[in-house]
Amino acid sequence: MMGHDAHANETGEYLLRIEGVSKIYDGLVKAVDQVTLKVASGEIFALLGGSGCGKSTLLRMLAGFETPTQGRIFLAGQDITDLPAYQRPINMMFQSYALFPHLSVSDNIAFGLRRDGMAKEAVAERVDAMLRLVQLTQYAQRKPHQLSGGQQQRVALARSIAKRPKLLLLDEPLGALDKKLRESTQIELLNIIEEVGVTCVLVTHDQEEAMTMATSMAVMSAGAFLQVGSPAEIYEQPNSRQVADFIGNVNIFDGLIKENQDHHATVQSADCLHYIGHGITGHVGMAVAVALRPEKIVLSHKKPSSTHNHCVGTVVEMAYFGAYTSYHLKLASGKVIQVQALNHSRDLSGGLSHGDKAYATWSDSAMVVLTQ
Ligand SMILES: Nc1ncnc2c1ncn2[C@@H]1O[C@H](COP(=O)(O)OP(=O)(O)O)[C@@H](O)[C@H]1O
Ligand SMILES: [Mg+2]
Repeated sequence: MMGHDAHANETGEYLLRIEGVSKIYDGLVKAVDQVTLKVASGEIFALLGGSGCGKSTLLRMLAGFETPTQGRIFLAGQDITDLPAYQRPINMMFQSYALFPHLSVSDNIAFGLRRDGMAKEAVAERVDAMLRLVQLTQYAQRKPHQLSGGQQQRVALARSIAKRPKLLLLDEPLGALDKKLRESTQIELLNIIEEVGVTCVLVTHDQEEAMTMATSMAVMSAGAFLQVGSPAEIYEQPNSRQVADFIGNVNIFDGLIKENQDHHATVQSADCLHYIGHGITGHVGMAVAVALRPEKIVLSHKKPSSTHNHCVGTVVEMAYFGAYTSYHLKLASGKVIQVQALNHSRDLSGGLSHGDKAYATWSDSAMVVLTQ
């Protein structure tokens, strides 16, 4: 995890350390299964996974709303596993925002500060600073229902960081917003978080959200981490079919290792010979999966001259997305692969059409060989 090493301080101390944490509900539902994780100061760490995989449970244990069945949680070196929620320098922002409907924006932000007994002037000063930060100064006296969804989300964020927590927990922070608003709000949220420099653990089931916002992320399934790394590492070097499949679109070719040398390997699948530009894990004859992302494939009418890393098929589907066109190519075996071609020019002719025979090619560094 490169991001971690870059941020960790000299003593190797991380802001958040989770050691072998499990949560078993009612003695049988294993919601979180032996999770170990380190998050450095300033990171935005995303927990990504499908519904019911244990994301919220893990977050609630960090907040102190649930007690781990097993394992320890450390914050800035201190064991906080048994510390009650209100004593933790941690704040959680809920998907529903949980704003007080009868309180103004200002009073919503001030609520926690007043409850902590902060002096009146100090509260006013902090609320002003928070309003400026989330650009809601002119809405200070409005009630939550008089704001748009995106503005309510910013009030909730301002309220969660007003007490300057060491760790901010965000459970599906953009879940209540529609697709278009989510994208602009993601960037706003990211800017605010970076400005205050608070360390975040963010839960999402949306892979694009995790990729856009996170410095590091974990892909979760059935309570456990499948892979932890930077978004780029997880996208480009998934460690399993499940991770490759979960993050973005991918073509998977089932094949057998034909050759495995120090500096190259070959895998034969039904439709092509894959030449991989480095040695791989596994022995000759072993069954593996070759993962190839749609944007790493080039389509052409012309037959390539090389003997490997290409296949031929028929365009059975195409969809124009403006910036790129997505093609489905049916191969001899019946397998259909996806190809994404950037639309570099405004030329409408000369491209491929439905029913055309086309050759797909890719480079020897475009594939990932997966053994599980
Ligand atoms: N309070 C609870 N009591 C019993 N089971 C629970 C409780 N909360 C969550 N679960 C179960 O734990 C698993 C993980 O849930 P959750 O952490 O909410 O997943 P996610 O946030 O990833 O959707 C699910 O099977 C869920 O039904
Ligand atoms: Mg959840």
